[in-house]
Amino acid sequence: MDTPALRLTDLTKRFGAVLALDHLHLEVRRGECLGFLGPNGAGKTTTIGLILGLLHPTAGRVEVFGRPVTPRQQAALRQVGALTAAPGFYPYLSGRDNLRLLARLYPEVDDRRVEEVLAEMGLTQAAGRKVKGYSTGMKQRLGLAAALLHRPALLVLDEPTNGLDPVGMAEMRERLRNLKAHGYTIFLSSHLLHEVEQVCDRVGILHHGRLLAVGQVADLLRGKRDLEEVFLETVGQPDGGRK
Ligand SMILES: Nc1ncnc2c1ncn2[C@@H]1O[C@H](COP(=O)(O)OP(=O)(O)O)[C@@H](O)[C@H]1O
Ligand SMILES: [Mg+2]
Repeated sequence: MDTPALRLTDLTKRFGAVLALDHLHLEVRRGECLGFLGPNGAGKTTTIGLILGLLHPTAGRVEVFGRPVTPRQQAALRQVGALTAAPGFYPYLSGRDNLRLLARLYPEVDDRRVEEVLAEMGLTQAAGRKVKGYSTGMKQRLGLAAALLHRPALLVLDEPTNGLDPVGMAEMRERLRNLKAHGYTIFLSSHLLHEVEQVCDRVGILHHGRLLAVGQVADLLRGKRDLEEVFLETVGQPDGGRK
């Protein structure tokens, strides 16, 4: 029962001379939203690539609900729904048909479930339209609908509000809070401090591939104006002290 939803142990990834991820230890407990906060280039997408078995770790390991994930061992990913930078949909198919195609991967997902996730993401009206005519926000919502399709226990989301306008961002945050309230465990990567502050229980701060701090949002905020202050104190300079 106490097995965490996600456990990253000593996780390290090197791309040639670049150490993108440096001995990361991190656990996501069941039912929590963990914010994975870091500026561009911090190593967030690399971490998610490793979690999803898309990349080979240089060292260390990934476990989802206690089971290992590697590019060769992906069975545990059945319990994971992911939203990555550019969800690949067929532009000339409707949102509904895209989801129906995806649903074929999962014997337990029927047309009713497709309609359910479309409705949850506010896409029922637009479901019959071709995806090429969707706004960025609609594509993101369709991406989240796709991630939810097979009722995964753990959601892994890579900057899900990227490219959205302020209204779209607020809407997406509300949806994420809602999903958490419905019992989903969420690993949320973001470079936006107030986003993490609004949605997550705990936050890990990643900088140049290293986890600099991890803790309850409320604890990190104690005595500070906001998470921004915590972040700047933790990483030093706004530019990370890079020369
Ligand atoms: N396929 C790759 N080949 C070489 N370097 C990479 C590759 N992917 C990421 N990197 C480098 O790893 C570091 C972390 O990148 P990334 O994980 O994309 O950061 P983030 O998602 O936090 O912006 C960066 O320095 C980036 O240039
Ligand atoms: Mg990224």
